[in-house]
Amino acid sequence: MTSFLIAHLSDAHIGPLPKAHPRELVGKRLTGYINWKRRDRIHDMDVLARLVADMKAHKPDHIMMTGDVLNIGLPAEFPLAAAWLHTLGDPKDVSFVPGNHDAYVRSSMPYLLRSFAPWTSPDGGHETTYPYLRVRGNIAFIGVSSGVPTPFFIASGKMGREQRHDFARMLHETHARGLMRVVMIHHPPYRTGASFGRGLMDAGAFERIIARHGAELIVHGHNHRASVNHLASQKGRVPVVGVASASAVPGTPRHRAAYHLFKVTQGETGWRIEAHARGILPGTREIGELGPVALG
Ligand SMILES: [Fe+2]
Ligand SMILES: [Fe+2]
Repeated sequence: MTSFLIAHLSDAHIGPLPKAHPRELVGKRLTGYINWKRRDRIHDMDVLARLVADMKAHKPDHIMMTGDVLNIGLPAEFPLAAAWLHTLGDPKDVSFVPGNHDAYVRSSMPYLLRSFAPWTSPDGGHETTYPYLRVRGNIAFIGVSSGVPTPFFIASGKMGREQRHDFARMLHETHARGLMRVVMIHHPPYRTGASFGRGLMDAGAFERIIARHGAELIVHGHNHRASVNHLASQKGRVPVVGVASASAVPGTPRHRAAYHLFKVTQGETGWRIEAHARGILPGTREIGELGPVALG
């Protein structure tokens, strides 16, 4: 029986920030810039590089990056983010969905669509529209965007009605094709997933779509910590797995840099998913095995 190995990482928050033109540092970006000066000490690019090297050594068949690859959506940040995504592997083997820091302000949006097209283009197309579908082996990777520009001090996300409609259709069609469905989204897609002003605004609608159509696995980032929750569906409980930031320097045990590996095997009675986490080992700066992730 062959298996398929999927890696999941998120929230790289690549730094340092490139030089910005003063006219770009207005409004929300200015507070974001000042904030970054603090965050700069939290997100360590050496840690990120070593984490990625460890991940690549496991030779995953597909890599999922669930957003916040940059910080304040500056035009000059996008080429840096794209260059980093290229280091993960061939774009056909790497899927990306945007986070709130990628869709930071309204003027970031055209850059977002253009810069990340290689990692978000659907099968048979080059234009990115969310949700997108990429089928690899017997697995349907469905990328949902929750990255929308928001006001000051708000880090929430939204799918929007159009995307929700297409998402439901995609889940239905891929299930009918006998594919395993893996959903990627930046924000935790359930109502209790994040604190006020940080969550997915249409999480209730997301929950209802899953209740009706099911999915086999949902992954997200945003909270910079590992978590496992479940959503109910007519087709059984769906695991919803959050991953830590890929670049966070040792802090509290759940906030340390980590990534997840999912080994998927198709059995006679359905899909078997085994997950484990790798990242900075407690009390060290070394990357190693953190243990199994119980999907329950
Ligand atoms: Fe983040
Ligand atoms: Fe985020």
